Amino acid sequence: MAKLFTSTKVGAYDLNHRVVLAPMTRLRTIQPGDIPSPMMADFYGQRASEGGLVIIEAASISEHARSYLGAASIFHDGQDAGWKAIADAVHAKGGLAFLQLIHGGRQSHVEVNGGSAPVAPSAVPFEGVALTRDGFVPVSPHRALEVEEIAGIVEDFRQAARRAKRAGFGGVELHGANGYLVDQFIQDGTNQRTDEYGGPVENRVRFLREALEALISVYGADRVGVRISPSGEWGGISDSDPVATFSHVAKVLDAYKIAYLHVIEPRIKGDDTLHHGQPVVAAAYLRPHFSGPIIAAGGFDRASAVDAVNSGVADLVAFGRHFSSNPDLPQRLAHDLPLTPYVRAAFWGGGEAQYSDFLTYDAQQAALRNAEDEESAEAV
Ligand SMILES: Cc1cc2nc3c(=O)[nH]c(=O)nc-3n(C[C@H](O)[C@H](O)[C@H](O)COP(=O)(O)O)c2cc1C
Repeated sequence: MAKLFTSTKVGAYDLNHRVVLAPMTRLRTIQPGDIPSPMMADFYGQRASEGGLVIIEAASISEHARSYLGAASIFHDGQDAGWKAIADAVHAKGGLAFLQLIHGGRQSHVEVNGGSAPVAPSAVPFEGVALTRDGFVPVSPHRALEVEEIAGIVEDFRQAARRAKRAGFGGVELHGANGYLVDQFIQDGTNQRTDEYGGPVENRVRFLREALEALISVYGADRVGVRISPSGEWGGISDSDPVATFSHVAKVLDAYKIAYLHVIEPRIKGDDTLHHGQPVVAAAYLRPHFSGPIIAAGGFDRASAVDAVNSGVADLVAFGRHFSSNPDLPQRLAHDLPLTPYVRAAFWGGGEAQYSDFLTYDAQQAALRNAEDEESAEAV
């Protein structure tokens, strides 16, 4: 049997297999208040499996941390029951749920963040988009954080982790990827500070460390993971030496003995060895620096996931889009069954259709048999 389908340990937890649900923001909370909706609990319950890890979509840690109308957040009491329903739905199937925590930083808009300018390590021109009542619109101009403000954001991470723990999540994942606030601090294209949070990489990881330590203070290191995207470009992010920067990040994280390091791989764009100067399999150059479990994500299919784990490049593989349309993805991959194609048009916003109504392989087969039976009954 391929190693992808064998048991492993992630921090405090034993898993039965290594197929992970990648966090996916689907913009289906109830407004106002970003209340986690019953269909979200259905969605995650469907994707849970005995001893399988599901990482729940990014939840903003405060109102000011929000980027997208309809996206999840976790900072007020009115949300608690909805989050608990999601954790319960995953547990009912014997699964493990981690909740991803995010601050959007400069990827934000005054319409969704409570009305004040978005914040970032530095004010660097940025042409991104945020989602408001008027659809995707250019982000609001942001400003550089005052050094005295940073502790408050770290505290918001701690409070969000407390809520996640109360709701029953097995752990939390710090969103250090995709050009949001933590990533904005790490990479030098967005961090031009001259104080202790900027300059050399040791300073640029200070905010990452503080946010991480806040989460660890609530959960313990063996129940906290971190996601990074060393080659990502989303959010206008860039670094002058990403291999050196993220090798350092991996080393720093290793010392905390966190549950896992989650790495978004570069997409292969016609060049199968390098992507913007980085090896295609970022997890391979991070591996020497990080001794714990590595989850690789981004563009995997069955064959490449099996290879990544067999070769030792990654310990687990997270799937996003394929998991969106295949609630029983671990089963399908284990038995090499055909996959239902995903529907991009339903990714961001909408209802249950093409979200929580995708069938398992067995249910699809049963529906086919029923349809055939009906046809032959009509023919009699
Ligand atoms: C609809 C959608 C929403 C996403 N939301 C998040 C998110 O909330 N947090 C995150 O870290 N990545 C997010 N991603 C990135 C995915 O986790 C994943 O890295 C990406 O889809 C590549 O994996 P795949 O090729 O298996 O889909 C999102 C991707 C999609 C398609």
